[in-house]
Formats: sequence, C-alpha cells, structure tokens
Amino acid sequence: MKILGIETSCDDTSVALFDSERAAAENLISSQVDLHEQFGGVVPELASRAHLVNLLPLVDHLLRRQGLAPADLDGVAVTSGPGLIGALLVGLSTAKALARAADLPLVGVHHLEGHILANALSAELVLPAVVLVVSGGHTELILMREVGRYERLGGTLDDAAGEAFDKSAKLLGLPYPGGPHIDRLAASGDPARFVLPRPLARDPRLVFSFSGLKTAVKIEAEALPRPLRDQDVCDLSRGVQDAIVDILVQRLFQAARRTRVRAVYLAGGVAANGGLRAAVAAEADRRGLHFIPPARVYCTDNAAMIARAGWEHLRLGRRDGLGLDSFARGDLTSWR
Ligand SMILES: Nc1ncnc2c1ncn2[C@@H]1O[C@H](COP(=O)(O)OP(=O)(O)OP(=O)(O)O)[C@@H](O)[C@H]1O
Ligand SMILES: [Mg+2]
Repeated sequence: MKILGIETSCDDTSVALFDSERAAAENLISSQVDLHEQFGGVVPELASRAHLVNLLPLVDHLLRRQGLAPADLDGVAVTSGPGLIGALLVGLSTAKALARAADLPLVGVHHLEGHILANALSAELVLPAVVLVVSGGHTELILMREVGRYERLGGTLDDAAGEAFDKSAKLLGLPYPGGPHIDRLAASGDPARFVLPRPLARDPRLVFSFSGLKTAVKIEAEALPRPLRDQDVCDLSRGVQDAIVDILVQRLFQAARRTRVRAVYLAGGVAANGGLRAAVAAEADRRGLHFIPPARVYCTDNAAMIARAGWEHLRLGRRDGLGLDSFARGDLTSWR
C-alpha cells in the first residue's frame, strides 16, 4: 500500500509517502523555525498561516518526485490531534479534500502513536515494550503490548522533557528550540561542575517533574558573570542534560522492570538527544533488553511516522469520514 501522510500539529509542515511493500518512506518537511524564533516559541496563528501556504505545494512536490498521481495512492493518513487546533485543521481539510477528490480512504492518526511508530520505520518492533515518549509537549511512559494497544504507566506532573530543555536553553541565551543546542554544547561541558537536582528521584511512582530543574538552572545561570562565557554555557548545558537524562533513564528502566517487557524504545523530539540515546543503550545492554534508537530524522515531528501509523489502521480496514475532527488534547490510551 502507498499511504500519503500529512502532519501539521505544531510548527512543521510535513508530508510523506510510506510504501508498505518496500517498507520505505520519503519524507518532506518545511520548517517554520525561522518564523517563530524571534518570539521564543510557536505562535499558533502564524503556524496555521504558514501551513496553509506550504502544505499543498509540498504534497505536489512529493507526488511529482515519486512519479505518482493522487489516484495511485491507497490512502491518506493525517494527524488529527493532539496539537494546535488551527494548525491541525489545515492538515485535516487538505487530507479530506485529497481523499474526496481521488476517492481514497482517510484515517486520522494520534500524534503520539505516530511518534511511537517512528521506531517501526527503521526496524521491526520487538514487543511487548515500554516506550518513553519525550517531546515538546509530552513525557509519558507507555506500555505497548502490540501495535494499537497502549497502556499509560506514568508521566510528567508538570513540564515535558522537551520544555525543560527549551526553557533551560532560553536561560542560557540559546536559540529556540534549545534542545539540539544543549545536546551539542553539553558534549564539551564538564559533568562535575553543575550537578543539578533530580526531582522525585526517591518517589516510587512512575512520575517526572521538571519545573524545579528550570528554577535550579535559573539560579546557576544568574550567578554566572555576564556576558556568558562559552565554557560556562557548555558546562551548564552538560549539567542540564545529565540531570534530565538521569531522571528519564531511571524511570524508563523502573517501568521495564515492573512490566517485564522484552524491549524499550524512545519516541519524540528528545529521543534525538545523544546523551539520552547513549545512556539508554548502555542500560538496556546491561539488563539484556532490546533497544534500537529511532532514526534521528524521525524523532521530531514528521509525516513519515503518521503515514506509517495510518497504514496500521488502514490495512485493518479502519476509515474515518469527512466528519473527522481535530482535538487539542487527548490521551492515546483512550483513543479509538
Ligand atoms: N537533540 C535534542 N536534544 C534534546 N532535545 C531535543 C533534541 N532535538 C529536539 N529536541 C526537543 O524536542 C522537542 C520537539 O519535539 P517534537 O517535535 O516531538 O515536539 P512537539 O511535536 O512540539 O510536541 P508533541 O509531540 O508533544 O506534541 C523540542 O522541545 C526540542 O528542543
Ligand atoms: Mg511531536
């Protein structure tokens, strides 16, 4: 099957073609980072307008590159939520129009299921598994017994891990989104100089809290001489990354132990973090658990993961009508 994927839940306009026969995807992204950078975060109205301008030309370009017409497709998969409503609606209306015009089946995809199934784009999944979803808006531990069957084991009580990276980066004067910058700078940082708190470390529940970390970074950053020296920024980036990674890894393996799964996975933008990937790989190896990190390009928002997830539904005969609606919030485990 050839599935067209559309993802417009936040600030990236993305379209992809997933071909199940070749188990391959081609993914195109039109990034809005430059547009939102000056505001230090995503401006919803600007995001919707940019999707509107970019989406159809991107679909057109993808189909041309693939030498396909809409009628050659076997279905259209689109992110229906969670995300920014205005941004989602641009993707949804386009998907509906294409499906209607070319008489194709349409299916709505939960954005987090997309992030999880990004792992299936590079290798066959080993299940059951615990997936740590760490992105700009989510930090969740999900038990996946099989594709489509998800159980929430725990999650953050306040900020998401991606937010913790981005807010810390802002305090260090780094551009938005700050996660990739902290990742890069932490590599040259001294791990012993700033040892930041690991909130809730002794709490037996599978929970996370990152708001205290942000305060600790603020205190350390304000105590540094201005203008900030490069080495100070690298050292504090290292302190931030080590603290976040430590908390995430501890909980992920606590969850894996309790559920006795065979594998662990990472999903979402923060899964691109070098420190996190290395720490999870080392711990999985020590415990004899299967772990393959998702391809970095498929960690942050992309339509390949949506097309891949949509294929799972479409091949089971699931269809959505033109009444398919967007939603701003919604748990993956109670969806469908
Ligand atoms: N290498 C990295 N290290 C740390 N964080 C990173 C890295 N690359 C991306 N991120 C973070 O990932 C987040 C973006 O991820 P993603 O695109 O999955 O989030 P989102 O779509 O905005 O949120 P959600 O998926 O929860 O709706 C940002 O917070 C960004 O800083
Ligand atoms: Mg996302």
